[in-house]
Amino acid sequence: MQSSAKKLTLCSSPNIAFIKYWGKKESTCDEDRNIGLNPSLSMTLSKAQTKVTLEASQNFEFFIQDKIASPKDQEKISAHIKRIEEYLQKKLSPFKLSSSNNFPTGTGIASSASAFSALTCAFISWMEGNDFLQKALQEKTQDLANLARRGSGSACRSLHGPFVEWNDRSITLHKSNWKLYDTILIFSKTEKKVSSTDGHKFATLSPLFKERLTKVHDRIEKVKKAISEKNLQLLGPTIEEEALEMHEIMRNNPHPVEYQTEECKKFLKEIQKISSRDFYFTLDAGPNVHLISEKPIAHLVKMLLEKSSTHAEIWEDEVGSPLSSC
Ligand code: PMV
Repeated sequence: MQSSAKKLTLCSSPNIAFIKYWGKKESTCDEDRNIGLNPSLSMTLSKAQTKVTLEASQNFEFFIQDKIASPKDQEKISAHIKRIEEYLQKKLSPFKLSSSNNFPTGTGIASSASAFSALTCAFISWMEGNDFLQKALQEKTQDLANLARRGSGSACRSLHGPFVEWNDRSITLHKSNWKLYDTILIFSKTEKKVSSTDGHKFATLSPLFKERLTKVHDRIEKVKKAISEKNLQLLGPTIEEEALEMHEIMRNNPHPVEYQTEECKKFLKEIQKISSRDFYFTLDAGPNVHLISEKPIAHLVKMLLEKSSTHAEIWEDEVGSPLSSC
């Protein structure tokens, strides 16, 4: 993080959920916003980043990807400023905010997670300085997670790394030096048509949802065991089952959504044909496939794309720590 009296720059990475947050509790107040109906667990990435710069200004001004933020985004950012002001019990002095992603937004690479993780940290640092922020991340872990969570649920898992579990109003950090890679196949850069906000609502209306809740606790235990044992053969099938189930729930509800494109489906079919693999897939709310492995596999992925006659841009990422240097 770089900062001066007038300017501050901070970066945060998205996280890829191994166990998904999809379906949230109903809320009647802002403090209760975005609480998952089941615990989730993710890996924080490192190369994909949201970069937030704050510069002193006469008025609050918000820019996203070099453009004035849309009224909807302005509203979300203003609401988040208010949360931080209430928490710090002081008014934030005005700034020009510029936020940009170095990866495609809204396509299943958890851009809202990195954005609200970065915004939460940037606003706190703006008012109280970086030392305060770093101390708060260690000593007020749950407070900061709850602030980020109110911006976007999955953001509470991007404040830390390498593996973060989120259950209701608290997060648990799973420390590990397991080096995992996430090779992301970008089949489409088109922003998704149905937002996660709507997707969460529709999920709970699915006839499959109730049964999912009975399975997810067992899966999360498997993922935790896999992390502690560095056991990819245990992790892999569990995360694939989880991702496929989430996409089935997306399709099977009164407002069905198909996030997977034909190319994405074709590619998934191709890799499922391989009898023994040392890489496993997961997906977020989008058509882009995340392949989790213990070694870089871009060369192999290129061959598989050719074999399945599909085309995707490849983004090579890996497990990381949060608030990486920009
Ligand atoms: O935090 P939201 O509202 O963008 O929801 C995230 C939902 C998924 O990315 C699909 C799953 C997850 O747990 O990150």
